[in-house]
Amino acid sequence: MAKINDHYQKLTAGYLFPEIARRVAAFTETNPEADVIKLGIGDVTRPLPPAVVDAFHAGVDEMASADTFRGYGPEQGHLFLRELIAANDYASRGVSVDPDEIFVSDGAKCDCGNIQEIFSTECKVAVADPVYPVYIDTNVMAGRSGPADDEGRYEGIHYMPCTEENGFQPDIPSEPVDLIYLCSPNNPTGTVATAEQLTRWVEYARGCGAIILFDAAYEAYVSDPGLPRSIYEIDGAREVAIEFRSFSKTAGFTGTRCAFIVVPRELRGKNTAGEEVSIHQLWSRRHSTKFNGASYPVQCAAAGIYTDEGKAQVKELIDFYMENARIIREGLSASGYAVYGGIHSPYSWLRIPGARSSWEFFELLLETTHIVGTPGSGFGPSGEGYFRLSAFGDRERIEEAIERIRDKLPAD
Ligand code: MLT
Repeated sequence: MAKINDHYQKLTAGYLFPEIARRVAAFTETNPEADVIKLGIGDVTRPLPPAVVDAFHAGVDEMASADTFRGYGPEQGHLFLRELIAANDYASRGVSVDPDEIFVSDGAKCDCGNIQEIFSTECKVAVADPVYPVYIDTNVMAGRSGPADDEGRYEGIHYMPCTEENGFQPDIPSEPVDLIYLCSPNNPTGTVATAEQLTRWVEYARGCGAIILFDAAYEAYVSDPGLPRSIYEIDGAREVAIEFRSFSKTAGFTGTRCAFIVVPRELRGKNTAGEEVSIHQLWSRRHSTKFNGASYPVQCAAAGIYTDEGKAQVKELIDFYMENARIIREGLSASGYAVYGGIHSPYSWLRIPGARSSWEFFELLLETTHIVGTPGSGFGPSGEGYFRLSAFGDRERIEEAIERIRDKLPAD
């Protein structure tokens, strides 16, 4: 019989969002009349912007004619899209990223999960706690951890607690680490790192030879021009950081699938012989072996984001969700909840009143108000006692949710 990868059996629970969906399905089966409002998974609800749809259609039309039909594209992504990304997402902010350093993919979740493959299983991994579960789970699957303890902390992973005391910003590790996952604006806490905080990370990584895996999937929600949207806005970051971006939360691509990562040419790792190796070359090798490029019409659709109309329409989308986030934040605060995030992020992170656990509050909220959120403990032990609400819903449903909480489950 074929032997399995034993590391998978260390995973303590199913993936968070299917588990939530399972519990909601069980609830609706026994309460078929309940009008459930879903503010759990961060899935967008507004349609693709018209400029994106037009570009998408044009790409499909090209595929429909023998003259313009395309088969396999470049694994790294079409140059027209990579050039637009380099110019609009980086050069426009004074950051130098070459199109050759950009790898287009079918999603940031896959990129965040796959990146660990090019590093040794001996690498010590540091993660914020709470954290997007993909970072940890994929390292556990690869064998970079021992078993989990009773609270769900995997042996061998360096956890960096993010609490009210440290403003939900991880402290620099007290032990040597090799790979550091950072996410700003943060999923799940909704908080954002300042340039000073990121500078400390870049200096630390440069000092000890670590690599920062910087997840900037929510950068479009940063509205304060003084806050960094890319780690490459920090001097020296090109030598120590890989950046993950996504069109999912920016332009409504959760169902369309398109994202990219930036791997600067300066970035180096070390092989067992102690020789320096280009991380860009390794990732390029991995990407071209395991991926055949994102769909051509989808890349055309992504290019539509960078037209003048596309930019204006994407801004409208972001403004819409950020108004939802404001309604959630202010509404919950008025109902007595301590709320964090929700200013440069679509996620609000609330402290659960009383002595309830995150899952107990999940059940209580569902039973009492028929609202679905995400239990903080699903993002790690330090998320226990917290709860995440997403602003990606319809406006009326968000307003309705806040009224239900005010009337049926105020904190005070
Ligand atoms: C979330 O809710 O945390 C995200 O939607 C998950 C994801 O982007 O994969």
